[in-house]
Amino acid sequence: MAQQVSLDFLGDLRRTHSCGALRPADEGRRVLLMGWVHRRRDLGGVIFIHMRDREGVSQVVFRAECDAALHAKAEQLRSEYVIAVEGPVERRSAETINPNIPTGEVEVVAEKIWLLNTSETPPFPMEEHVDVSEDARLKYRYVDLRRPHMQRNIILRSRISLATREELYRQGFLEIETPFMTRSTPEGARDFLVPSRIQPGNFYALPQSPQIFKQLLMVSGYDRYFQIVRCFRDEDLRADRQPEFTQIDLEMSFPQEEQIFEVIEPLIERVCAEAGFEVKAPFPRMSYAEAMRGYGIDKPDLRLPRFWPVEDLFPPDAGLTPAGLPLVAIVTPKTGALSRKERDDLKAFGQERGLRVFDDKKRLERDFPEPFSQVLQRTGATEDDLLLVCGWGGGEAGHRPEETVFQACGQLRLHAGQKYNDRHKLLDPQDFRFLWVLDFPMFEWDSEDNRWMAAHHPFTSPNDEDLDKLDTDPARCRARSYDIVLNGVELGSGSIRIHRQDVQSKVFAALGMSPEEAQHRFGFLLEALTYGAPPHGGIALGLDRLVMILAGETSIRDVIPFPKTAKGTDLMCEAPSGATDRQLRELGIQLRRPPAGG
Ligand code: AMO
Repeated sequence: MAQQVSLDFLGDLRRTHSCGALRPADEGRRVLLMGWVHRRRDLGGVIFIHMRDREGVSQVVFRAECDAALHAKAEQLRSEYVIAVEGPVERRSAETINPNIPTGEVEVVAEKIWLLNTSETPPFPMEEHVDVSEDARLKYRYVDLRRPHMQRNIILRSRISLATREELYRQGFLEIETPFMTRSTPEGARDFLVPSRIQPGNFYALPQSPQIFKQLLMVSGYDRYFQIVRCFRDEDLRADRQPEFTQIDLEMSFPQEEQIFEVIEPLIERVCAEAGFEVKAPFPRMSYAEAMRGYGIDKPDLRLPRFWPVEDLFPPDAGLTPAGLPLVAIVTPKTGALSRKERDDLKAFGQERGLRVFDDKKRLERDFPEPFSQVLQRTGATEDDLLLVCGWGGGEAGHRPEETVFQACGQLRLHAGQKYNDRHKLLDPQDFRFLWVLDFPMFEWDSEDNRWMAAHHPFTSPNDEDLDKLDTDPARCRARSYDIVLNGVELGSGSIRIHRQDVQSKVFAALGMSPEEAQHRFGFLLEALTYGAPPHGGIALGLDRLVMILAGETSIRDVIPFPKTAKGTDLMCEAPSGATDRQLRELGIQLRRPPAGG
């Protein structure tokens, strides 16, 4: 329990400055600060308080010799008490200047103090770099959010949102809201459902994205729409995924892909500048096929070098990989001097993914001298670098076997780069390598359901010249979709959409949807496409991921004020929670089994 002290009223007190604002130029000025007791040092006759608000910290000094009653009140202060202090600003003597805080050359000499509230002892210290369990942080999120690095992140997020709005307004976009209580919008996850009381047995779905609505806005003539919008997806959570997250979502009429890039690139430049980083557009572009052949992934981290297919350099009977499958050379810079155990770990990592990994350069050179020297030439590998030559181990390689080999190599490339990053600083978090990935396949094979799925979403337009492959050769049908990738993270995704009803119907059919099902699920969209739908396209960027990277964090939970745990729980308010019998009755819902723990 906090100690019993008498509290003062705020009354008509007004603060004059924030705690981070005071500078030597303020010397002699009488100020009134309000904030929290960050730290307290009691030197007997003198008490120093570090007083904190969201702008920073100021030192306040209470001297017993000047005012015993005031000093006695300061003695009662504890961490996180809420106070107001009034007094003149004084310069600190040279030996007491604190160079670590911007206000460190001055202090406020308290003449009056108001104690506005007490605080329990905080569940963890407010200091910058104290390790605290994530559960405690999320349970006491309102305390965690006071910590300086969280305040920096949340303030950065707000500034990035403002910069986004300013830039998109500058580019002629309109901010328009779309509904949260709606019908399913397929983005590849499960929907969160909201039961209707007025129509028992019916449910709204929370939008996985505003995709269909923004397309309808184009049909309605609201060219250049944007929204900073919450999306909801019931999917397995990871460090870069939350069940509710925020997109910078936009759509344009009559665009080619290039025009979308011309909107996003200045937006990214502007937002990075807001975070204190200079990045220069245009960003490099790469086809999906190139990304797979060079990185084995559709979101390449360009801070590590690409890998190289090298099967053409070896004789067909070399036996390093089965005939017709790739042989891949992976190079990790400055990582040549690994121990036997480290190499074995890397080999095991590759083997678990179906690869056969040759890590012995000397042996490769002895057995295949000419091909080996060509591998060095192609990859540019030097003595200092780790070189792994990988073939397929011979197991089942799936529907697109080449891609399976590349994907496994891509994982090994990243693993080698990330694992030895600390030692060699390969992955500088402030080295921002943006990249556009283009020309994705239209469909992905879903081996669980044995059917084609939309690689992006079912409203993405096929390439004009691939239209006739929709029903004859879906595997080779390319889409007019694009991703923007930053350092191995998919930051955003978009496409030119289908604006013709006949094409949309064909794509639904290619996805195995009967005309009745298509009509039932998307009849309103199919109909809208018959009322003068213009060619249109757009993109959505993940705001949380963007802020995460610019803030130097590795989890989006650190840039979302009130996030959920990996199990989708809000530990602070204990959501999700059960419903009362009355609520369930009103909604016409009967539970098949009682809720866990209930
Ligand atoms: P997509 O599903 O690729 O595209 O999402 C766009 C971007 O949103 C972010 N994102 C997420 N961020 C945090 N948690 C999640 N669970 C999560 N899921 C997605 C990613 C991703 O790149 N309607 C289309 C966009 C369009 O075509 O215009 C869409 O939503 O950064």
